[in-house]
Amino acid sequence: MRLTREFRDQFIQHEMRTYGRKNGFVTTGQQARLERWLPVIGLPKDKTLNDADIPGGSPVVMEIGFGNGDFLVHLADMHADWTLIGVEIYLPGVAKAVGRLEDAGFIERARITQLPAQFVLERQVAEAQLDGVYINHPDPWPKARHHKRRLIQKDFAELLVSRLKAGGFIKLASDKPDLAEWMRDILDATPGLRNVAGVGGFVARDDDRPETKFEQRGHREGRKSQFLHYVKSEEDV
Ligand SMILES: C[S@@+](CC[C@H](N)C(=O)[O-])C[C@H]1O[C@@H](n2cnc3c(N)ncnc32)[C@H](O)[C@@H]1O
Repeated sequence: MRLTREFRDQFIQHEMRTYGRKNGFVTTGQQARLERWLPVIGLPKDKTLNDADIPGGSPVVMEIGFGNGDFLVHLADMHADWTLIGVEIYLPGVAKAVGRLEDAGFIERARITQLPAQFVLERQVAEAQLDGVYINHPDPWPKARHHKRRLIQKDFAELLVSRLKAGGFIKLASDKPDLAEWMRDILDATPGLRNVAGVGGFVARDDDRPETKFEQRGHREGRKSQFLHYVKSEEDV
């Protein structure tokens, strides 16, 4: 990785604590795309979404842990008025997503960051700024002693709700039953959220939802995905 110190200080996180891989091989072509696009559509560490030049009136929808960016491309294709905030700590994933969004002609409708979701939500997103959040197949951390590393935790769920507008949504998917139930139980117990399927329930898959890379992998290995859909209530919480 030959990104300059200045670029890394602005856009690349190496100092923040996260669980899961951050670095990996990035080709010269991918590096060139990162250098071309992050100064335009990246979210530098010292800026917020208020500085991100989001068109007035555009719904702001975030995907956390976007992997290779295919789902972001799908969302951009389906919703021409949305501005998409992509959050992913794995740098090669960020590089792939930037390439895919550029090739599909959607790059300028995305804001992309390699900073961890906890930092982005706490420091870079204002209260009630998001219209929706997607979280597809977050890392399962199957061992009991690693459950505290899972993305969805009580505090994180409360932070997410505070960043959503009234009426905003959170949609999640997992092909790991234990994780799907973990996320459901935490989110069902989070004040201000309504489970669209009713407490304890899962929703059917959205008709237009493509299979993400991790869903395809689960499918090949014989696992079925489960889907959750929450809406932030209109009353103050
Ligand atoms: C199992 S992969 C799923 C990728 C993609 N959503 C899919 O369905 O194919 C989980 C992704 O979440 C990312 N991730 C893990 N912790 C994160 C965090 N704190 N903030 C942002 N992304 C995170 C990982 O780097 C990884 O790419």
